[in-house]
Amino acid sequence: KTPTQAPLYALVEKAAALYRRQLREHPQANRAVEYLKQRGVSGEIAGDFGLGYAPPGWSFLLERLGRGPGEQARLLECGLIAEQDGRRYDRFRDRIVFPIRDRRGRVIGFGGRLLGEGKPKYLNSPETPIFHKGRELYGLFEALRSNRKLASLVIVEGYMDVIALAQFGLTSAVATLGTATTADHLKQLLKTAPEIVFCFDGDRAGRDAAWKALQIALPLASGHQLIRFLFLPEGEDPDTLVRRLGRDGFTALMASAQSLSDFLFDRLAEHGDMASSDGRKRVASQAQELASEMPAGIYRDLALERIAMLKGVSPGASARPRSRRPGRSA
Ligand code: GTP
Ligand code: MN
Ligand code: MN
Ligand code: MN
Ligand code: MN
Repeated sequence: KTPTQAPLYALVEKAAALYRRQLREHPQANRAVEYLKQRGVSGEIAGDFGLGYAPPGWSFLLERLGRGPGEQARLLECGLIAEQDGRRYDRFRDRIVFPIRDRRGRVIGFGGRLLGEGKPKYLNSPETPIFHKGRELYGLFEALRSNRKLASLVIVEGYMDVIALAQFGLTSAVATLGTATTADHLKQLLKTAPEIVFCFDGDRAGRDAAWKALQIALPLASGHQLIRFLFLPEGEDPDTLVRRLGRDGFTALMASAQSLSDFLFDRLAEHGDMASSDGRKRVASQAQELASEMPAGIYRDLALERIAMLKGVSPGASARPRSRRPGRSA
C-alpha cells in the first residue's frame, strides 16, 4: 500500500502561502519587489504565478512550519529544509520563489532565484515523493487554466521565460525544471496539444538542448502532431525577446519555427562537410541513423527521401533539398 502524500502537499502549500505573504509583508521584501519591477514583472502576473519571497536567514520556515519533530521530518522530506552535520536550515533564503504546480494545480516544489548576480542563480527543490523533475513542467497548470483549448505548447528553458510570455498574453509556455526534456515530458505535451514548439535560448547551451530534445522527440514524431524548433537570436531568450519585440513580434517569429526534419538536416549539414561527396555521405548516414528512430509513417518517408537525395546530390548543390509543395515539410 502506498502511503498518502497528503501531508506533504499540505505542507508545501503552506510554505507557498507563507512565501507569497512575505513578498508583501516582510521588512526586507522591498528588494525583492524592486528586483521583479526592474525585470518588468507586473504585480498581476506575479499573483497569477503565485510568486513569493523567501526571506534571508537560516530558519524562517523552520521556525514557522517545523515546530515538532514530525513536522521537521516532513519539511526535510519535501526539500524545504536541508540538513548538514546534524543541523537543519532553510533551503531557500533571500530568493524570489516560483511555486511549481502539477497539472492539477497542487504546489509540489519551488524554484528560487537570487535577487541579483551570484551562484547558484537558481535553486530548485530536490526530487521528493511529490516532485519529479523528469515529469513535471513549470507553467503547465497555468497554461491549462488560461486556455480552453491549446493549439500549441511552447517549451522554454526558464521560469522567467514562462512568466514574461504569459505577461504578454502568450499563455502557452512551459519550462522544464533545470533538467533536459524527457520522453515523459514530451508524451504529456503531445497529449495536451497538437503542436509543440521548442524555444530554447539563443546560445550554445540552448542549441545543444534543442538537439538533445530532437533526439528524444524522434520516436514520438508520429503523423498527427507537429514538433517544431524556434531558434532565437544570439544572446536572447524568450523573456528578453518578447519584451523587445512585443506580443505580435514574438508571434511572428514563432511562425518561422523550423520543422523537426529541417532542424535535423540543417544541424547535420552545419556540423558536416557538405562540400565533399564523402562529407555528404557521412551526413546522409548520420541522418539515416536518426531517421531509423522515427516511427514508420509520412515523416520518416520524407526523411528517407531527403537522405536519398543527399546521397545522390551533385557537388556544390544545396544540402537542403527542400520540398516546398504543401504538406510536404515534416
Ligand atoms: P534569468 O537570468 O533569471 O533570466 O534566468 P534564465 O532562465 O534566463 O537562466 P538561464 O538561461 O541561465 O537558465 C535556464 C534555466 O536553467 C533556468 O530558468 C533554471 O531553471 C536553470 N538554471 C539556471 N541557472 C541555474 C543554476 O545555477 N542552478 C540550477 N539548478 N538551475 C539553473
Ligand atoms: Mn541560457
Ligand atoms: Mn544557461
Ligand atoms: Mn533569462
Ligand atoms: Mn535564459
